Amino acid sequence: MSRHSIAVIAGDGIGNEVVPAAIACLERIASIHSLNLEFTYFDWGSDYYGRHGRMMPVDGLEQLARHEAIFLGAVGSPEVPDTESLWGLLIPIRREFQQYINLRPVKTLDGVASPLAADNPIDILIVRENNEGEYSEVGGRMYRGLPHESAVQETIFTRLGVSRAAHFAASLAASRQGRLTSATKSNGIIHTMPFWDEVVEETVRLYPGVTVTHELVDALAAHLVLKPWTLDVIVASNLLGDILSDLGSSVTGSIGLAPSANLNPEGNFPSLFEPVHGSAPDIAGKGLANPVGQIWSGAMMLEHLGHPEAAGHLQAAFESALRDGHGTRDVGGTSSTSEFTAAVLTAINTLALATDQPANASAVTAS
Ligand code: NAI
Ligand code: MG
Repeated sequence: MSRHSIAVIAGDGIGNEVVPAAIACLERIASIHSLNLEFTYFDWGSDYYGRHGRMMPVDGLEQLARHEAIFLGAVGSPEVPDTESLWGLLIPIRREFQQYINLRPVKTLDGVASPLAADNPIDILIVRENNEGEYSEVGGRMYRGLPHESAVQETIFTRLGVSRAAHFAASLAASRQGRLTSATKSNGIIHTMPFWDEVVEETVRLYPGVTVTHELVDALAAHLVLKPWTLDVIVASNLLGDILSDLGSSVTGSIGLAPSANLNPEGNFPSLFEPVHGSAPDIAGKGLANPVGQIWSGAMMLEHLGHPEAAGHLQAAFESALRDGHGTRDVGGTSSTSEFTAAVLTAINTLALATDQPANASAVTAS
């Protein structure tokens, strides 16, 4: 029996609703596929901050490093400044564990209407550079409160950082339609973005079957709304990838559906799996949260841990629940979080009974 040790941080707000929902699904899948998933729970987040003045203990990263993967809900609370919640937990994890790829699938699902008039199927993978770029610590504030108060924040692109993101994206594109789109803004940002373009171009040249198109991010945002079905793999810097992936998940129906993986591809450190959405304080505690983004992130985690069949089974189960008309309010349905989760658990059982070989579609690359 394959054994995997997984650190679980439900975090804040709806994280405490969607994480238990996803864990219930993962446990059911584990029992069917003979996996031993050992979950260790950490109560870190904004409540912990209220008690201890920090988002996680001083040795938090050391504790997490003992696990193979991290399963996170969301952090962020109206009581704690976002700079504290993000930079006190999520960003240190992404950086210290060299999770330099943030992989965000954007895919239409049967049973969920897109807000776009034409609802052609969309199947895009967004590869966001996750360690550097615009989210840098280099900068500062001067003359606070005075008329000449100023703020500076430097963007940092390194050849290593850009090329490894481009390698990852190009090899994904090679396994799909071979079409890579690189988000840029080299007409306005004249030092860092042309460097990004050059390194992406050089890297993609090493993949003969892959062509890269450099698209200015403003035009690419319009492209994502007007003709998203023509896009295959997108590679983008930290900030541009963050914005494009929220937009992408919205055109497929709801941000509550969108999963993500923060990957350390070499496996030197644990990778982290979390939905794209935040803690949604406006709906927290009401049973309205859509758990699909969290469950799908769980499927990506199973795939990363080397269990594509189990991942495909879980993916097929939530897709079938949505297709059968179950869904939370954000996707036009009437199910509560727990009712929708019950529908996914039923679908897991039904699919397991339907075939000895559970669905083996890949959680990441299924089209
Ligand atoms: P948000 O993603 O939490 O919410 C945006 C909107 O989408 C809200 O109307 C919310 O109700 C809705 N929504 C989000 N997830 C949903 C789900 N699963 N089901 C149904 N509806 C859902 O983004 P917002 O409001 O900008 O941020 C709230 C807090 O979360 C902030 O403190 C922010 O810093 C934090 N945040 C944390 C992230 C993380 O932990 N990775 C990512 C994004 C935001
Ligand atoms: Mg975002």
